[in-house]
Amino acid sequence: MDKLRIEGGTPLNGEVHVSGAKNAALPLLCAGLLTAEPLTLTNVPQLNDVRTMRTLLTQMGVAIEASDGRVALDAARVDWPLAPYELVKTMRASILALGPLLARCGEARVSLPGGCAIGLRPVDQHVKGLAAMGAEIDLEHGYISAKGRLRGAKFVFDMVTVTGTENLLMAASLADGTTVLENAAREPEVVDLARCLTAMGARITGAGTDRIVVEGVPELHAATHAIMPDRIETGTYLVAAAASGGRVAVRGGDADSLDSVLTKLVEAGATITIDGDVIVVERSGTLRAVSVRTAPHPGFPTDMQAQFMALAARAEGTAVITETIFENRMMHVQELVRLGADIEVEGGTALVRGVAKLTGAHVMATDLRASACLVIAGLVAQGETVIDRIYHLDRGYERIEDKLSGLSARIARVR
Ligand code: UD1
Repeated sequence: MDKLRIEGGTPLNGEVHVSGAKNAALPLLCAGLLTAEPLTLTNVPQLNDVRTMRTLLTQMGVAIEASDGRVALDAARVDWPLAPYELVKTMRASILALGPLLARCGEARVSLPGGCAIGLRPVDQHVKGLAAMGAEIDLEHGYISAKGRLRGAKFVFDMVTVTGTENLLMAASLADGTTVLENAAREPEVVDLARCLTAMGARITGAGTDRIVVEGVPELHAATHAIMPDRIETGTYLVAAAASGGRVAVRGGDADSLDSVLTKLVEAGATITIDGDVIVVERSGTLRAVSVRTAPHPGFPTDMQAQFMALAARAEGTAVITETIFENRMMHVQELVRLGADIEVEGGTALVRGVAKLTGAHVMATDLRASACLVIAGLVAQGETVIDRIYHLDRGYERIEDKLSGLSARIARVR
């Protein structure tokens, strides 16, 4: 199993190019199911989760051609509207196939995702929303079976759910009549999906607000769409640079999607300069502890919580880090402690007392963003850190060791 070996303690310097967003790519690939005509996506990141989604769609009958970040999907025939347990268990976002399959084929069977390392993560909102649109749904033998012709409906989400909003948005695009989604997720990835669906002929207003209105159309058509930059990858490199000191330019990013993160970086003592799609972060003075509380967009993203904990571990002062979205997203704490961090956790809140020095150690990645946190901590720690189980990292970060090496980090993938 691959590991990362990091020799920490030196500042990052240089320029890094951000990839297309994983969390936009996954729903956009599923959007290909909605039309019999080709959908071409560009700026597609080369990640394990994207490969898993492609395998899933191929099994359903979608013809896929891929080269250099360009993926052409042809769902002229969808002859097997099923997402099997074997794939869903490796990637929970497979649930994103449910809405499009049902809308396009009139039937779908998708395995329930089951337990997940970062919490229960149920999919009840996806199911309730589709039921409100007239789907007949059965939960049997660990599968969601849905069938029926979808019609527009008003649906109020009990809580803000990103993939739930995306699933219903895609389904509503082909439903009969108008759908109103209230308490919808406002994440930039939802907006990117709406932009692509609109290019395919969907009639959507309000994406990016908590009320999205979709007037269903009988069919969608061919389109080409460039996937938005990955704001979490961008944020991860910015935090790594701020934590280690030095000056890093992140190219190809979208600063507007990162307001809450940039604000916190400035609070931590970094200087941020934005010039078009280039975000430059620089930190030479004291690194200050900053408290964060995760919230749906435009609040502070849960997907950046672990990286900020690594930052706080080495900062001056005490930070209170509160996770409000997922109930078990603090697994990086015990690994950070192995590097010498001083952290106490009670429920979803971590009290991080900054220490003067972290020291390299052997640690284990437990989920995607926890892995990113350990990479940042390893870059800051004195001596050698070895991170085990980095398959989590490969799900969501494209060539992270190459990109960090380009910033003068001493990092290598070892077996
Ligand atoms: C997406 C992102 C993930 C991010 C998360 C929160 C993708 C592929 N993944 O995950 O990186 O961390 O948003 O920003 O885009 N919930 C329910 N019932 C539901 C759906 C959700 O109770 O039917 C709960 C979840 O358990 C969680 C909260 O709502 O507590 C938010 O989850 P959600 O936004 O759905 O996360 P994902 O869309 O899975």
